[in-house]
Amino acid sequence: MFEGAECNGDVRRTLTAKSRPSVESSSGVQGGGSQRLQVLLAGLGAVAGLGAALGGYALLYEPFDVRTERLEVRLLRDRAGLPSEGLTILHLSDTHFRGADRREHAKIEQVRRATAGEEIDLLIHTGDFLHNDGGLDNVLALIDCIPKPRLGAYAVTGNHDYVFYNMKRAPQHSWRLFLAREAANGAGNGTLSSSVKKGSGKAGIRNLLRFGRYLLRNRFDGEPAGVNDIGRLRRALEERGMQFLDNRAVRLGETGVHLVGVEDLMEGRPDLKKSLKGVPHDAPTVLLSHNPDIIEAVEAGRADLILSGHTHGGQIVLPLIGPTYTQTEQLSRSEASGYSRRGRTQVYVHRGLGEGVPVRFGAPPHVTFIRLLPARQNSSAGAGGDGNRG
Ligand SMILES: [Fe+2]
Repeated sequence: MFEGAECNGDVRRTLTAKSRPSVESSSGVQGGGSQRLQVLLAGLGAVAGLGAALGGYALLYEPFDVRTERLEVRLLRDRAGLPSEGLTILHLSDTHFRGADRREHAKIEQVRRATAGEEIDLLIHTGDFLHNDGGLDNVLALIDCIPKPRLGAYAVTGNHDYVFYNMKRAPQHSWRLFLAREAANGAGNGTLSSSVKKGSGKAGIRNLLRFGRYLLRNRFDGEPAGVNDIGRLRRALEERGMQFLDNRAVRLGETGVHLVGVEDLMEGRPDLKKSLKGVPHDAPTVLLSHNPDIIEAVEAGRADLILSGHTHGGQIVLPLIGPTYTQTEQLSRSEASGYSRRGRTQVYVHRGLGEGVPVRFGAPPHVTFIRLLPARQNSSAGAGGDGNRG
């Protein structure tokens, strides 16, 4: 009994001695896992919180943060007819109004404040007034709140003024456009792309890779889902004195400056040769085109300044990546908004006041005052000036 009791006691001690560390060890593992889980959850919470904060900013703050930009553009060629004191242009673009009164009234009020008391020679709107017909009243309210320009108001229409798009079907539509372009390219050089003719296996993978590159070049198009009443839009704005420059040019008052407009590259019938007909080759020339890809046209080189919109500045501009969706094939991502040049043709791309998808990040809406000045007297051609933010 005694020995047995000792034995049992030893066994108990032995068991106790072995069990304790085992229990402590087990307890230690559970504690470490719990801490790691808490750290992981805290990290996920922080990421989710940051995402929610950035999303809220992009949805509720930046689209309403209408900025005022000022730019001085000096002609790079000797052109007779631009007043020595220059011309002040108020450039607007891409309002994309659809009748969302709370959002649109807030933007109109900011534009009214930004332009109040300004002396303007020209009011220019480079298209996408509407997102759909429901936005017309707010477009008119916007134009009504701006000081009357001394030499007139001029505009070109954008693709959204013609049609409204179904973005839910954008992937399928973009795929069809891609295949059509591939087929056209193949037909153009006499060898229809084999990756288009074959739809499976390695050819299918090649197709997908080429489609990826196509999308990276900003070809992501919604499917046209209906037409807007562009005639009603034009008539209403013309009654307020705005002139549409659809493939035509006007001379500005007593100046030698010619304003030239071209129809939208996607939904219109652009004819830049027709637009420039009758414009003297040595006249100061400002070209209005909703889509900045007009720069690829040879005749665009005759313009001293091109004013465009359409890109929304990429709308979402991410660190390291830059503008995400610029909708331009001819301009680099860094040229998708603001000032750039091609030779002696200067280009200004407006980021727009509105948006289709109602978010902006790193590309706030704005109004821009452009001071257009003659070339420097003592400069040789091509070195006369540049775009300077004032
Ligand atoms: Fe637009």
